[in-house]
Amino acid sequence: MVNFSSDFLLGVSSSATQIEGGGFEHTWSEWYAKGGIHDGSNPARAADHLHFWREDIDLMAQMGIKIYRLGIEWARLEPQRGIYDEAAALWYRELLVYIKSKGIAPLLTIHHFTNPLWFEAAGGFAEAANIPVYLGFVEYAVGKFGDLVNEYVTLNEPNVFAVKGYFEGEFPPGKRSMLLALKVQSIMASCHIQAYELIHRLRRERGQTTKVGFAHHARVFDPKSKHNLWHRFCTFLSERMFQGALTRACLLGRFIFPLKRCGNVRPGQYADFLALNYYTRTTVSKLGDGVREGAPLNDLGWEIYPDGIASCARELYELLPRPIYITENGTCDNNDTFRCRFLYDHLKAVCGSGLPVQRYYHWCFTDNFEWCEGESARFGLVHVDYATQQRTVKKSGQFYAAMIAQNGVSGAMYDTYVAGQEYHH
Ligand code: BGC
Repeated sequence: MVNFSSDFLLGVSSSATQIEGGGFEHTWSEWYAKGGIHDGSNPARAADHLHFWREDIDLMAQMGIKIYRLGIEWARLEPQRGIYDEAAALWYRELLVYIKSKGIAPLLTIHHFTNPLWFEAAGGFAEAANIPVYLGFVEYAVGKFGDLVNEYVTLNEPNVFAVKGYFEGEFPPGKRSMLLALKVQSIMASCHIQAYELIHRLRRERGQTTKVGFAHHARVFDPKSKHNLWHRFCTFLSERMFQGALTRACLLGRFIFPLKRCGNVRPGQYADFLALNYYTRTTVSKLGDGVREGAPLNDLGWEIYPDGIASCARELYELLPRPIYITENGTCDNNDTFRCRFLYDHLKAVCGSGLPVQRYYHWCFTDNFEWCEGESARFGLVHVDYATQQRTVKKSGQFYAAMIAQNGVSGAMYDTYVAGQEYHH
């Protein structure tokens, strides 16, 4: 069926805003107050990891998970510019110590979509003058947690952040300007490169080793009809504007149309691992998202296209040959009726790709606050009853634990977990 190689690890991924709760002064609390969350749920609740962290890590350990990608909440650690909350830093330190005591290796994401309100008020990532402010936080985080964490993700998905927040208006700050979205991508690419260099420098000075990357959201872009020139042109443009230019800027410091070099960055090699977040394919017939007719879909209407995980990884690898970590892959399956099949199909594609994929971090461990979809979109291996915060391992969670224990999927496991599951169309 599927055998994992001996150095392939399965883990889970999360972000601070989506699991912690707590109601900090950040862009998503404000977005909630402005009515930006479709189901009206408040990120101040989320999965209350603030109080359930020990239970969550215990559950991870019981499932045999050995690698965990997690985030830190900037607004919580630096509630006002230059003023840091020592209690918040101690909370993260205690969490990291606990994670490691369970034999789980942390990969720390420094920024995952959410800005403190004071940073946003100053223009956030739409102002190149704010690059040093972000770098200041990077330096703080590496200083505070560097004895506990060797591996860092500088930024999560600059393209999704820019497109949703500055072009589609679905994420804060709710702007709708293509030019602004491109500007934000250029600035964030520069942030990544400078953070990459900074983290390496800081850790070299302290004699510590490190690995640094940025989590890239890549999808497959295919024309609706291969024979239609307009579809093909739009496919080229969509891919370039959404991910192609950003990939080159972040990985290689090469800024091609439509991005512009900003700040003091040079061509080079700016990733020690290729961090790929993969979810879906876009079928293009105009500028904008489209879904292939009759395609298998998840509960949010995204196409399920397992082969894309390998082709997206290959594209990154051809630009910069580095070990590949799938830092996110998962699906919205509210009733957990096809997640086992989704896992099986994607892991099979990864393992059959011939690429050096070393890690797979499933998105997500527990159900969580899914940005503008709020609590209504469930991506977890573990079910969360938000009213009671009770955790229950789903069938897909049991399958995940079994895959870790068996280092693959046996015929018997396939029959128990995958065989009866179908995607909807
Ligand atoms: C983001 C996650 C999000 C997931 C599912 C990724 O784009 O990094 O924060 O929950 O997709 O939508």
